Amino acid sequence: MVPPEERLLAPVPILDDDEVERSLRPRALSEFPGQERVKENLVIAVEAARKRGEALDHLLLYGPPGLGKTTLANIVAHEMGVAIRTTSGPAIERPGDLAAILTNLKEHDILFIDEVHRLSRAVEEILYPAMEDFALDLVIGKGPGARSVRLAMPKFTLVGATTRYAMVSAPMRDRFGSVYRLDFYDAPTLARIVKRSAQILGVALPDDAAQEIARRSRGTPRIANRILRRVRDYAEVRGGGAISLGSTRDALALLEIDDLGLDETDRLVIRCIVEKFAGGPVGLDTIAASIGEEADTIMDVYEPFLLQRGFLQRTPRGRVATAGAYRHLGIEPPRGATQPALWDEPANPASSEGDQ
Ligand SMILES: Nc1ncnc2c1ncn2[C@@H]1O[C@H](COP(=O)(O)OP(=O)(O)O)[C@@H](O)[C@H]1O
Ligand SMILES: [Mg+2]
Repeated sequence: MVPPEERLLAPVPILDDDEVERSLRPRALSEFPGQERVKENLVIAVEAARKRGEALDHLLLYGPPGLGKTTLANIVAHEMGVAIRTTSGPAIERPGDLAAILTNLKEHDILFIDEVHRLSRAVEEILYPAMEDFALDLVIGKGPGARSVRLAMPKFTLVGATTRYAMVSAPMRDRFGSVYRLDFYDAPTLARIVKRSAQILGVALPDDAAQEIARRSRGTPRIANRILRRVRDYAEVRGGGAISLGSTRDALALLEIDDLGLDETDRLVIRCIVEKFAGGPVGLDTIAASIGEEADTIMDVYEPFLLQRGFLQRTPRGRVATAGAYRHLGIEPPRGATQPALWDEPANPASSEGDQ
């Protein structure tokens, strides 16, 4: 098993990604292709808030990793002309940690909490009045003499991000003024994104090579950018420096990314269901144990794409491999195998989550 941090298609940041990702990260909405509906809503919200001289409404962004949640949070701060303070659910261990962050915010600042579904209950309790009334309820003293005081705090905007909408608590969800789901990108949009990245990296990327990368990056900008860098390396070493369609394909083959952009783990998941469990239905935990992968990782990272691409379906009794999954593995599907969903039929993680 390849360790997750070395996997090329891992949509979560790996190794030296951080720095390069920062350099490729769009700074303004106008440099951010795709997610048109979300962008349009954000443009209106930002302009309205600025005109009224108010803080932006609290905003929740959700969707699979690598689609631009962190990027959008930073862009929104930039467009609002305010500072952004970044933290994450697991990083805020005690209510006091959050209180310290909140008291340091300035009027209209953005507090970005990544993995907002992983906040503890005690921390959430502090966040509710802060979001709703811009008030900080602090308990002073201990035992029977303890009393609670309420402090006013600056009006701020909470931007939350999560890969697991269903795991955000209901009272938390209710306090966000707007909630947007980010979807996988289509190939033409990803091609625009890698063309832009190539320009920033200073490499010439022919259109056909850009399209090839776009088609094989799981609908995910982070993966597209990562493949671009590996293709560039390959061209430098084996292709005389220039990227061509041929060298791009050779590099992808060497990386074991197949024609549809599936990586080793994607194929392991569908092969496991098809070969070990007769196509399913089989529970997520069973799949996880059988391929030696974390159930959470499969659910966050692999499953959304396999669902969207129509290789996998969720049923009340477990995961089922579709006829398309059989064919992709070069196996004749059994009669009555589930037909794959259409490519352009969007998966809806909000409504299908939580059935594991
Ligand atoms: N729409 C986009 N246009 C250009 N680059 C993007 C876009 N969305 C994401 N990226 C790139 O992909 C990388 C991952 O995006 P990020 O915002 O960190 O994803 P998430 O927070 O959803 O995991 C960033 O480095 C960014 O450059
Ligand atoms: Mg992020």
